[in-house]
Amino acid sequence: MDSKTNTKTATLTVNDKTVDFPVLGGTVGPEVVDISKLYAQTGMFTYDPGFTSTASCESKITYIDGDEGILLYRGYPIAQLAEQGDFLETCYLLLYGELPTPAQKADFDDRITRHTMVHEQMARFFQGFRRDAHPMAVMVASVGALAAFYHDSTDINDPHQRMVASMRMIAKIPTLAAMAFKYNVGQPFVYPKNSLSYAANFLRMCFAVPCDEYKVNPVMAEALDKIFILHADHEQNASTSTVRIAGSSGANPFACIAAGIACLWGPAHGGANEAALQMLAEIGSVDKIPEFIAQVKDKNSTVRLMGFGHRVYKNYDPRAKIMQKMCHKVLAETGHQNDPLLHVAMELEKIALSDDYFIQRKLYPNIDFYSGITLKAMGFPTSMFTVLFAVARTVGWISQWSEMIQDPQQKIGRPRQLYTGATTRDYVAIDKRK
Ligand code: ACO
Repeated sequence: MDSKTNTKTATLTVNDKTVDFPVLGGTVGPEVVDISKLYAQTGMFTYDPGFTSTASCESKITYIDGDEGILLYRGYPIAQLAEQGDFLETCYLLLYGELPTPAQKADFDDRITRHTMVHEQMARFFQGFRRDAHPMAVMVASVGALAAFYHDSTDINDPHQRMVASMRMIAKIPTLAAMAFKYNVGQPFVYPKNSLSYAANFLRMCFAVPCDEYKVNPVMAEALDKIFILHADHEQNASTSTVRIAGSSGANPFACIAAGIACLWGPAHGGANEAALQMLAEIGSVDKIPEFIAQVKDKNSTVRLMGFGHRVYKNYDPRAKIMQKMCHKVLAETGHQNDPLLHVAMELEKIALSDDYFIQRKLYPNIDFYSGITLKAMGFPTSMFTVLFAVARTVGWISQWSEMIQDPQQKIGRPRQLYTGATTRDYVAIDKRK
């Protein structure tokens, strides 16, 4: 444990008993009160639905200051990584903690590239799905199934197997994602091409067909690479916490990542860009925006401005700024700069940022506000948006999982509850029940 115990303590007085708890400090960010002995000392639990005030672990990977709009991977600002680096460099950084030297980068790229193919039997496995299955359903199943295909890297106590499983997962997830897409559209699977970059290879596996030459558009490859960097990790969000909690029982890494993908699928998390795009399409034109904003602000309505607001960012999401720039670049390249959805998005953003409702609640655009329009212009159907997020986030999940396995403080995740159900009562035979 590298956190520093301050001389400071937090004192709790309850039921005439006073207990002191240690206050721990990290390198940056809020201090935490270590309440791990609370139950032993007071017989009480804490209550924190949604973990809004609870740090579940110690981590050195990603830091977010939501009030200032800061996101750092291993200390490096997200904008610097997205503007100057590439995705595999970010993967190396997240996994190993440092930026690679040229030799380390070349070796890492080579190792990832050599794991891009999936077991040929996987193609048969895919045939069992309905063609109209949502690709996220296929991803949950096929990533979970990797454990059955690569059983030789499921011993979590062996550091070498852990690293092989990590490489396999980062390398194979784009292949599986592209297969899920191809299966859905009824086209043949395209094998990976190892001479291409990670993002370019993914685009080719998605959009090439055997009857035509396919040339990767460098603007699209660059944009996708940046989208992957922006989504690579985001500290203890819902899906990452799911991966950690699944892994805390000793489950194999493929199963843990499948659990993370399942969690990511929800509209409040990874599904938000799909929901944001759908919302823009429903609004349809700039003149309908005031009516829509009125619905969002109506206390009796459940309508939310999708792509706005964030549990942690109470300021502009730093990823959203980069995403907005990229959105314009991709739309210009694909000739979609007059897409009405883009106009609706820009106007909606302008109005929301000057409206008291949103200002008071600190609701700013998050990364999903512009990512949906960008991915649509690149040719991805909405059902693939969350899949792309999963491709990018796999490295974050696996880095967090690996950190957890090596953490001497690691215990099985087992939250407690405030029970409000029936107290003990006697069983009543069925014929005696009214
Ligand atoms: N539109 C309108 N009002 C909102 C929105 C929104 N998008 N988000 C929050 N609010 C309002 C709530 O109604 C609430 O208002 P009230 O105080 O008058 O009741 C207040 O802001 C606080 O909202 P909470 O739901 O408590 O905030 P929380 O931190 O739990 O929610 C969340 C965060 C789930 C992301 C929320 O902002 C939301 O639903 N946003 C839309 C979905 C979205 O874009 N998700 C993507 C997240 S980013 C990611 O996963 C990559």
